[in-house]
Amino acid sequence: MDYFNYKDNELYAEDIKVRDLVEQYGSPLYVYSKATLERHLRAFEDALVSKDHLVCYAVKANCSLAILNIIAEFGCGFDVVSKGELMRVIAAGGDPQKVIYSGVGKRPDEIEFALSYNIKCLNIESESELYAVSKIAAKLGIKAPVALRVNPNVDAKTHPSISTGLKKNKFGIPFEDASRLYQVIKNDPHLEATGIDCHIGSQMTSGGPIIEATDKLIALYHELEAMGIKVDHIDIGGGLGVTYNDETPPSPYEYLAAVLQRLKDIDVAVYCEPGRAMVANAGILLTKVLYLKSNPERNFCIVDASMSDLIRPALYNSWMNIVPAVKRPATDALPESDKNGNRVYDVVGPICESDDFLGKERNLNVREGDVLAVRGAGAYGSSMSSNYNGRPLCAEILVDGSRSYVIRERQKEEDMWENERIITDLEKQFS
Ligand code: LLP
Repeated sequence: MDYFNYKDNELYAEDIKVRDLVEQYGSPLYVYSKATLERHLRAFEDALVSKDHLVCYAVKANCSLAILNIIAEFGCGFDVVSKGELMRVIAAGGDPQKVIYSGVGKRPDEIEFALSYNIKCLNIESESELYAVSKIAAKLGIKAPVALRVNPNVDAKTHPSISTGLKKNKFGIPFEDASRLYQVIKNDPHLEATGIDCHIGSQMTSGGPIIEATDKLIALYHELEAMGIKVDHIDIGGGLGVTYNDETPPSPYEYLAAVLQRLKDIDVAVYCEPGRAMVANAGILLTKVLYLKSNPERNFCIVDASMSDLIRPALYNSWMNIVPAVKRPATDALPESDKNGNRVYDVVGPICESDDFLGKERNLNVREGDVLAVRGAGAYGSSMSSNYNGRPLCAEILVDGSRSYVIRERQKEEDMWENERIITDLEKQFS
C-alpha cells in the first residue's frame, strides 16, 4: 500500500497533485512519499518486535540523504557496500554503530575507514578479505567484529541478474568453508565472530527460499556452538519483493514471522537488510510526454525521462507500471484508439540506444505535454541513474502531506563536468 492515489482521475502524491509538482519543479522528477516510507519502516519494525533485532536498510536501493535521515530518525540501522555509502549514512545523521558493511570487494582503505568508525559488523565475503580485515584491525589495535556472508546455494527464484545465493554467483563464502573460517576467526586475536550472514537475492516473491537459507544458517549456528563459538546475530539479508505488476509477495510481517518461527529457540538477534521493500513503492518518477509518433508497426510515446534516470527496464527488462497523471475519459481519445480510449505505445526516452525504454506495449490515452508516472521507482531508480548522453541528474522531491521539499536540486549541465580538465598547451609541452 502506498500514498500515490487517484482522486477524481487525478494522481496525487499524498495531498498534492503530481501534475502541480511537475509544474513547480520541472520534469523528469522523482517524488517520494514520506508517509509511505514510514509505513514500510513500521511494518519491518513491528514484524520483529518480539525478538532482539536490527533492521539495516540497504542504502544502495536509494541513497538520498533525506531518505537516509528519515530512516535514521526512525531508529533503523543501515547496510552499506562502500565508503561512499557509509559517509552518506554519517552525513545523514545515521549511527555508525548500527551499520553493517557488505560487499564482495572492499578496498583496504574502506575497511580501515569503517573500522575506525566502530561499525557494528563487517560481512566478509572471502577468505582473503578475512585476512585483510585482520591485518587492518591489528594495525588499529582493535578486534574487528565480523560475520561470514555464507553462500547457502539456495535458489531465490528471481531474475538471474539479481540472484546472489547460488554457487555460480560471485557472492559469499562457500557454505562448506564456513566452519573452518570461523575457527580461523576464533584463533585470531584481531577478529571476533559476531554473526552469520547471507543474502540470496532480490525481488523474491515467495517466502520459501529465505526459509531454506535460514535453516542452513541455523545448522551452521549449531555447528559453531559445538566449536565453542557463540555469535550474537543471524542476518538474513534483504530481498523481499514488491508488486510492480501482478506479483504477490508476502508482507514483511508474513515473511519475517516465518523466519522468527524458525529462530524462536535460538538466543540470537535477527538482522535483515531490506532495500526494495522499504522504498520502491514510496517513490514515482514523473515524466512529460514530448512527442507521439507512429509507424505502420508501432506507436511511440517519447518522454523526457530515460534509462539515464531509470535503468531497470533497459537493464533487466523489468516491467514497471506507467500511469497518467490525469486519466482522460474514453470520449477524449485519438483516432484508432480502443473502446477505452487507449492506444498501444512503447514508452521510450530520448537516449540514443534502442533499449532506452520505460515500458513496451502499454495501453495509454495520452497527448503531447501530458505527465506520466512510473510507479515503484523509489528503489534502484535514482541510485542507479547516470549522466549518459549528457543528461543532468533529475530533481528529487519529498512530499509530506500537503508540503513538498526539494531533497535534491536538478543537476546543472556544467556540474556534470566540474571535475574534468582540459590538457593545456603548457602541460603538453612538458610531458
Ligand atoms: N543486502 C545485500 C548484501 C544486497 O546485495 C542487497 C541488494 C540487499 C541487501 C537489498 O536487497 P533488496 O531488499 O533491495 O532486494 N538493481 C537491482 C537490484 C540489485 C540488488 C542488489 N543487492 C534491481 O533494480 O532490481
